[in-house]
Amino acid sequence: MSETFPPGFLWGTATAAYQIEGAPQENGRTPSIWDVFSHTPGKTANGDTGDLAVDHFHRRAEDVRLMADLGLNAYRFSVSWPRVQPTGRGPAVQRGLDFYRALVDDLLAHGIEPVLTLYHWDLPQELESAGGWPERETAYRFAEYARVVGEALGDRVERWTTLNEPWCSAFLGYGSGVHAPGRTDPVAALRAAHHLNLGHGLATQALRAVLPARAQISVSLNPACVRARTQAPEDLNARRRIDALANRVFSGPMLAGAYPEDLFADTARLTDWSFVHAGDAAVARQPLDSLGINYYQPAVVSAAGEGDTERHDGHGGGDHSPWPGADDIAFHRPPGELTDMGWSVDPTGLYDLLLRYTREAPGLPLYITENGAAYEDKPAADGSVHDPDRIRYLHGHLSAVRRAIGDGADVRGYFLWSLMDNFEWAYGYDQRFGAVHVDFETQRRTPKSSARWYAKVAATGELPEPPVG
Ligand code: FCB
Repeated sequence: MSETFPPGFLWGTATAAYQIEGAPQENGRTPSIWDVFSHTPGKTANGDTGDLAVDHFHRRAEDVRLMADLGLNAYRFSVSWPRVQPTGRGPAVQRGLDFYRALVDDLLAHGIEPVLTLYHWDLPQELESAGGWPERETAYRFAEYARVVGEALGDRVERWTTLNEPWCSAFLGYGSGVHAPGRTDPVAALRAAHHLNLGHGLATQALRAVLPARAQISVSLNPACVRARTQAPEDLNARRRIDALANRVFSGPMLAGAYPEDLFADTARLTDWSFVHAGDAAVARQPLDSLGINYYQPAVVSAAGEGDTERHDGHGGGDHSPWPGADDIAFHRPPGELTDMGWSVDPTGLYDLLLRYTREAPGLPLYITENGAAYEDKPAADGSVHDPDRIRYLHGHLSAVRRAIGDGADVRGYFLWSLMDNFEWAYGYDQRFGAVHVDFETQRRTPKSSARWYAKVAATGELPEPPVG
């Protein structure tokens, strides 16, 4: 089989504002839920915060040059909501927008296509104090924010993404509490999921109204590749239920204009879903130009039995489950190799997801908007950073992408998570996902060997053999 990727394929890296920017108070930026959460004792590893992160706000030009040196042709970044709309409503702060204008202009000057995400989890704290995503009003605020950014950057950004991984916002933020704002209320999590769906639809409408016709609008989901531990009916039922809570709760409204009935039935003990108003799911279903898929590892589930007490759902510890109404379902460590973070290495999950969305969303081009791995990369005595594990990880996953394309998936691009080591949410600075190493003391950037390897793939559109050792 050919290991060549289609012409015009986008080869990029991805980042998120709070994970890299720092400068939390510059130019009128107010706290987001992640500033408040990371400053709350006990919420992040070592009490780490994004106060400095990797100082990208001040090192923007250098970071764009790094991408240009690697020859990448796309870059996925997010806009910090409280940097451009500090109170979460009303007019934008021009100096906040100027940062993103300058970033986009730098990218375009280097021939790098900007791919802008509006929401990568940094809700202005003021909106959380008013109730956050469990409240309907937040969806309307998000649409207004989308319009404001659309008006400001629509002349130079063609590719727009509404939300990044709404599952994490809803279920880790309001259910398990391992992400900001740290609430642990299963009903609030379901309400948040709905208002994220609604917000996505309203924001897409708002963007269409202000953007030129050539603009492309998308959403990045983190669909779970859910596998049943056995083919026993109770395990298959566990798979169906987690599939509803992980995937169809978003893809139902966004892609098909309706919530899955089994989701309502499975959670009827918790809520009657009366927060879903007539017509909401239709609003959530807006014509999209592509679908973004973020993939890290598959999930293996079963009906919980004796001794199934360990949590293996890959979403951190904590006493509360991110899966409302599913305490009788167990998650198991998938077989095979693990990254240093303990996430499993299984490219077949990515292949399966690409084929699934090819079937479920026929005609919708797909982008892998995140994929990558954390390893404990340390500089050698000469300062170079070798990360053969990451190269093997990337090789395996890119082979799976190529195989999916061969089997009919219309995949148009791949964004490696991440451009550089950064603030990995509740894991703080302990987990390094970057293709570029960052010394967090000096902020010195050093491309790892995986960055060079990935640059070669991007330049040739072909997968070389992975290095041995
Ligand atoms: C995803 C997030 C991204 C990063 C990776 C490792 O869930 O979207 O910001 O943290 O995981």
